[in-house]
Amino acid sequence: MHSVSADASSYANVSAFVTTHLTLDLTANFEQETLAGTAELTVDRRDPAATELVLDTRDLTIQNAEAAMATGDWVPTSFTLDAATPAFGSALRIVMPPGADRVRVTYATSPAARGLQWLSPSQTAGREQPFLFTQAQAIQARSFIPLQDLPGVRITYDATIRTPKALVAVMAAEMTPGGEGTGVFTFKMPQPIPSYLIALAIGDLAFTPMGTRTGVWAEPSMVEAAAREFEDTEQMIAATEGLYGPYRWGRYDLLVLPPSFPFGGMENPRLTFATPTVIAGDKSLVSLVAHELAHSWSGNLVTNATWPDFWLNEGFTTYLERRIIEAVYGKARADMEAMIGVSDLEDSRSTIEIAQDKTLLPDMTGRDPDDAYSTVPYEQGALFLAFLEAKFGRDTFDAFLRLWFDTHAFRGATTDDFLTFLRTELMDQSPGVVTEAQVQEWLHTEGIPSFAVLPQSDAFVKVEQARDAFVTGGSAQTLAQASRAWSTHEWMHFVDALPRDLSLDHMRALDDQVGFTKSTNSEIAHVWFRLAIAANYAAADSEMEAYMIRIGRRKLILPLYRDLAATPAGKIRAATIFAKARDGYHPMAVTSVADIVR
Ligand code: BES
Ligand code: ZN
Repeated sequence: MHSVSADASSYANVSAFVTTHLTLDLTANFEQETLAGTAELTVDRRDPAATELVLDTRDLTIQNAEAAMATGDWVPTSFTLDAATPAFGSALRIVMPPGADRVRVTYATSPAARGLQWLSPSQTAGREQPFLFTQAQAIQARSFIPLQDLPGVRITYDATIRTPKALVAVMAAEMTPGGEGTGVFTFKMPQPIPSYLIALAIGDLAFTPMGTRTGVWAEPSMVEAAAREFEDTEQMIAATEGLYGPYRWGRYDLLVLPPSFPFGGMENPRLTFATPTVIAGDKSLVSLVAHELAHSWSGNLVTNATWPDFWLNEGFTTYLERRIIEAVYGKARADMEAMIGVSDLEDSRSTIEIAQDKTLLPDMTGRDPDDAYSTVPYEQGALFLAFLEAKFGRDTFDAFLRLWFDTHAFRGATTDDFLTFLRTELMDQSPGVVTEAQVQEWLHTEGIPSFAVLPQSDAFVKVEQARDAFVTGGSAQTLAQASRAWSTHEWMHFVDALPRDLSLDHMRALDDQVGFTKSTNSEIAHVWFRLAIAANYAAADSEMEAYMIRIGRRKLILPLYRDLAATPAGKIRAATIFAKARDGYHPMAVTSVADIVR
């Protein structure tokens, strides 16, 4: 039995009890915007003398608690709920009678639960039914289930979800067929997972298969377009299996959410949650699928043991994502995406205020892990692994990563675990290839190390030539010639690489020719709106405002709010847009935007 390291973002007393299984029975009430019912936890007693089980909760109403032994009847037991702290919520302390190894908590969520978003019919594509989805990572599971909410504890679960009869419930778990139309859905998750991977969505949902083990859930009007966009998913799985070993979760389905979903994607096991903003019509933004799929190895199989180890999840996954893209779409595209990643990394770093958050190992003591969230663990982590690949050679490094996943499967890993593995499996085998000082610099530096092996792209060199020609007086026609075969990534780089003080004449000429302001590609529109803010190009104002109201994906909207807030007049505009958008945003997006416009 593995020991569980205590976690700074959880109240759970894991040296006394460790949860092994969860049974949920919850009813979704869309009028009250609550989930209510029971959570039954089976615990493994680590301290025979322990008399109290401590769980994480946030804004839950606890009705009662009962305890039982494996064989015995339920008996009421007493509990207390501590005062809440802003970062971590309230510890729930349940008295555990001697020998008890199960507890059952009857509770209800709050309409303000941070891990839930309740959407009115008007916020959905169909406009007739309401919608609910959960987002548990990093520490929001506690806002809809009382549990030990830390990545170092893995549980299996089963669940009964009761809904209005017209709606369909899906979970990131195995679904028992036949629920549709009955208002009762049952699920089971047989593989042990950390609490942040528990996920539920309820709405007017339809399913379209893509392959034998892949398919898409979405609102009926979206599901066919989504299945076409993501039709290469099976190929991505096959490519990843070829590199890193079997996919161990049975099915891989995607759930396309309404546009208020605050993330691009969330790697909920067996059922990735995804923003509709990646459905561009030309598969140009499907690296999101590669990314969330990659988490089936890096994250879901081998999990960051604590949140400060987050780069083990996201850095590895970003590296794997690029390898999948290379295998399915070729090296040129993977290189362009990696270069965009480096540019995102530098941009993100420049907005970070706490020095240690610019490194791979932020200090999260006393903080909600979400407050330390940035691109650094993703792109700095990916660059670290790309460096190791370049130094040790691709074949050696691939075998090394595969062994890492195999030997740590269904377990948590710390940064130190990785370093030990790196030393014994690679560095000691080939002394002198990579030094200990270099490894330390990757972890602790606030920038990209000088010895990094950076991605390069011939395509982007050509884009920069076309940009130079255009900016120094070249005609729009010449640009049209040069850009005829450009992909989304080339256009993104082009806009991103334009001077921020581009003249209004240039802006207008570009917009007339390419139609940037009305782009239906969410990433191209994003880089264009950032340029429009900097260049004071007012012709984009109303489209940008509509974009910021329609979309709740933080990565697409926060930089726009931040850019606006850089000037006093812009800050007022940002606040005005936020006032209109706020009701449609997820609680996590509301917090992040409020921070900027305050
Ligand atoms: N696991 C993350 C999302 C996340 C991280 C949610 C931390 C809550 C806390 C997911 O895998 C992710 O990284 N999504 C990215 C997309 C990706 C293509 C970089 C996103 O949402 O932007
Ligand atoms: Zn990720």
